[in-house]
Amino acid sequence: GKGEHRHFMAKEIFEQPQVMGDTLNAMFNPAERTITLPDLGMDLKDISRVTLIGCGTASLAASVAKYWIEHVARVPVEVDVASEFRYRCPPLPEGGVALFISQSGETADTLAALRYAKSQGQRVIGVVNVPESTIAREADAVLPTLAGPEIGVAATKTFVSQLMVLACFSLALAEARGAVAPDRVAALSAALAEVPSRAVEVLNHDKRIRDIAADLAEARDVLYLGRGTSYPLALEGALKLKEISYIHAEGYAAGEMKHGPIALIDETVPVIVIAPSDGLFEKTASNVQEVVARGGRVVLFSDAAGIARMGDTALYAIEMPAVDPFVTPLLYALPIQLLAYHIAVHKGTDVDQPRNLAKSVTVE
Ligand code: F6R
Repeated sequence: GKGEHRHFMAKEIFEQPQVMGDTLNAMFNPAERTITLPDLGMDLKDISRVTLIGCGTASLAASVAKYWIEHVARVPVEVDVASEFRYRCPPLPEGGVALFISQSGETADTLAALRYAKSQGQRVIGVVNVPESTIAREADAVLPTLAGPEIGVAATKTFVSQLMVLACFSLALAEARGAVAPDRVAALSAALAEVPSRAVEVLNHDKRIRDIAADLAEARDVLYLGRGTSYPLALEGALKLKEISYIHAEGYAAGEMKHGPIALIDETVPVIVIAPSDGLFEKTASNVQEVVARGGRVVLFSDAAGIARMGDTALYAIEMPAVDPFVTPLLYALPIQLLAYHIAVHKGTDVDQPRNLAKSVTVE
């Protein structure tokens, strides 16, 4: 059942600290601060190239992981949506590994993409939430997302479990390749281990986000901006809002604003800014100045330092915990889900069963 919650989506959002902990604990040894993946039937240090494929939210988890893997493991990564990848028939290199990310493990395009990669001699790994699914069966190995059943059509807890698995994969790969110093791997593992308790703090903003949502619910269009790993989160925020509230929303890399989308900005367009105070913060801050100068109404998600620097330009600011920039996507995913959820509830749409959507897309 839904427990104390009005919708499965709310219940699943609030399960995320638990789910992230469960997913991490299957791979993480807290005493030694080391990550051990299930046997992938290959030596991680031989991986010369990673391909990450999914549809919808799963493809956005893949996009976050591209930044992680390239940054910490220094292995080139290609990301694509399954429906493009499968018909592009891309040449795939010797020694490549391809990860197929899917909650259901039954998505038709993702399965077809897996079969293509296998036919091209790639080692294929399923990142799936349903252990007896077709993708789990056909993959050479599985990295399970231990989210439990997800009833709401909008992916929430499965997204953060996918991120957790992919973060662990990135660190294990980095370690195996000697791409980062061992103490840095330990520090990043420790930061990951802290995520579940930090996520509880983030969920405490629920009521505040509900109030902000009430103010945004009349918008016709909403923009989401971010840089680095916050860019795919901007895309995910926009996707969540579209699918459950039917408000038109778009995510952009903040640096792309001046290349076109800034023309959309006026007082009627809320702009959701995902900007932890990482190495890209100042760049995002100057994009936000340009938005504010054109009358944009900014909702800022940042930490105390970021809010001190940029908060007065925002109509609303939500203070996130200060954490290592590596783990921010796992935490910033939560308030953007809550924002979409509360806007949809405010509008009175069917949050758990949005129109035109199915939980599992088994036809292309
Ligand atoms: C978005 C959403 C969809 C799915 C997509 C892939 O909230 O739920 O975009 O992420 O249909 O589904 P799976 O992960 O089952 O392959």
